Parts: sequence; structure tokens; C-alpha cells
Amino acid sequence: MRLTPRFVWAVLVFGAMGCIQSIRCKPRSFRESVGVLEVNSSIDSNPTSIDESSSVVLRYRTPHFRAAAHVLVPPVAGKETWTVGWIQACSHMEFYNKYGDKGMSSWELPDLRDGKIQAISDSDGVNYPWYGNTTETRTIVGPTKKDTKFIVSMNDNFYPSVTWGVPVSDSNVPQLTSIRRDQSFTTWLVAINQGTGEMLVLQTIRWRMQLHIEIDTNKPLGQRSRLREPIAQEQPQILGKNEPIPPNALVKPNANDAQVLMWRPKNGEPIVVIPPKY
Ligand SMILES: *[C@@H]1O[C@H](CO)[C@@H](O)[C@H](O)[C@H]1NC(C)=O
Ligand SMILES: *[C@@H]1O[C@H](CO)[C@@H](O)[C@H](O)[C@H]1NC(C)=O
Repeated sequence: MRLTPRFVWAVLVFGAMGCIQSIRCKPRSFRESVGVLEVNSSIDSNPTSIDESSSVVLRYRTPHFRAAAHVLVPPVAGKETWTVGWIQACSHMEFYNKYGDKGMSSWELPDLRDGKIQAISDSDGVNYPWYGNTTETRTIVGPTKKDTKFIVSMNDNFYPSVTWGVPVSDSNVPQLTSIRRDQSFTTWLVAINQGTGEMLVLQTIRWRMQLHIEIDTNKPLGQRSRLREPIAQEQPQILGKNEPIPPNALVKPNANDAQVLMWRPKNGEPIVVIPPKY
């Protein structure tokens, strides 16, 4: 194309106007320029698998939740250090193991159960507030001259053991009749300025894992359990509008350290079987 004087004039005027209106000709800040190119999130389609090889505990393994984001950070002008990655919190937990008419054991997060907090950190317990620090985060140390593009990813699943016998007795006599679990999580893609602590929420994902296993203890080991609904999990939701991160999602204790195992007999007072770790 031949550049006519009129065309060149138009480019100069509109170019200058764009510069004046939006960014006053300074390099754009990290806040204005960090971009999420793509986000994927899903729960694997395989059903929960159940392992009855132990005469002491039943084990099960749920499908994996996965999240991955392709992020673009344009050149960082100053000496700023930013970490971009995943933060996860549990916002609801029901986890009941029923032992016929004896009662049930349940894993509980007391502050969440009692409505004292909105969500509890699901950090690995080392890299607060991050969910992990291998594939889950990426740190950019400014100044940088070029775009930085990278993928941060995370995954989660449950792999617990549940005793066949009532947890407050010494007996291994199998009495477990059902397992029910319903847990909800929020997972955020976040950028944090390591110097100032400034935090930008780039993406918010909500997901849930539900489980129901029925157990017939009259049957021999290896043939006792049946996976009931839901065989397939609901898929995660990538929200159109980001949600703020509640304070307890960012600090100690995490869900692992705060959870307690209760024995709730059909008649009588509940007993703490395993106290919190912190
Ligand atoms: C998202 O999923 C698509 C299709 O499987 C894949 O091609 C792409 O690389 C994924 N992106 C990220 C950021 O994981
Ligand atoms: C992960 O965190 C540990 C402990 O804080 C640290 O020693 C290690 O260097 C970190 N790894 C990465 C890849 O950042």
C-alpha cells in the first residue's frame, strides 16, 4: 500500500490520541498488561476407583480436577518481582462414613462447619498462599525486555483410607456401611507482587466433588463396595466475573492441618478421634 500524506496524518493523530487517553505514553503497568490467553479446567471422566485389598481400611481414589492457564506478561519496566499461580480453598466439606446403626465418623473443618470462616486454605502447607510451587507458580523478576509467556497448572484428587471397623474400637470387625462425600472448592489464578503484596485475581474457578459408596459387610473382602451416584462428576465452572479471595484462603492453617476426625455415635456425645495438627 502507498502511504498517502492523508493516511500518515491519520495514523499520527489517532496514535497520539490513543497514547494520551489510555496510558499517557508511559509503559503500561503490570496490572494493566498481564493477560490470560487461555484457561482450561476439567474433572477427568474416569469414575472413582475403590481398593479393598486391605483388611483394615477401604481406600478410594477420585478422578482428578485439573486447571491450566496460558499467561502472557509483557515487558516489566521496573525492578518488580511478580509471582503468578494457583491458590485453592475449600468452601464446603461433608465427609461421612456410616457404620450401620452404631453411628458415623466424619472428617470436619470446625471453623468452616460452624460458619466462622467462608473458606479454608488448601495450600500444600509450605508455600502459602500457593497450592504448590512446581508447575503451579511462575515468578517473573523485572526488568524484562520481552513478553514472558508460560503455563501454570495444578491438579487435585482425594485418596483417603476409611477403617472397616468403628474407629473408636480396637476391633477390625467390618461395620462400615456407606461413605458419602460432598466438597466444594474455589481455585483462583492470581498474580502477587512480592515487594508490595499487591494481589490481582486473574481467573476464578469453582468445582465440586461428590461421592457415594455403599458397602455390604456380609460379603467377602474385595466384593463389598459399590459406587453409587454420581458416577460422573459435575464439570468445573470458570466464572465470568472474578470472586474476591477470603482471608482464610491465604493463611495457615490449611485444610489438612485443621481437619478433625469425629466419631458421632447414634446415641451419646461425639468424640474427637483425631485432633487438628496445628
Ligand atoms: C487447553 O486445551 C486445549 C485442548 O485440549 C489444548 O490444545 C491447550 O494447549 C490447552 N491449554 C492450556 C493452557 O493448557
Ligand atoms: C519451592 O518452595 C521451597 C520451599 O519454600 C523452596 O525451597 C523451593 O526452591 C521452591 N521451588 C521452586 C521451584 O520455586
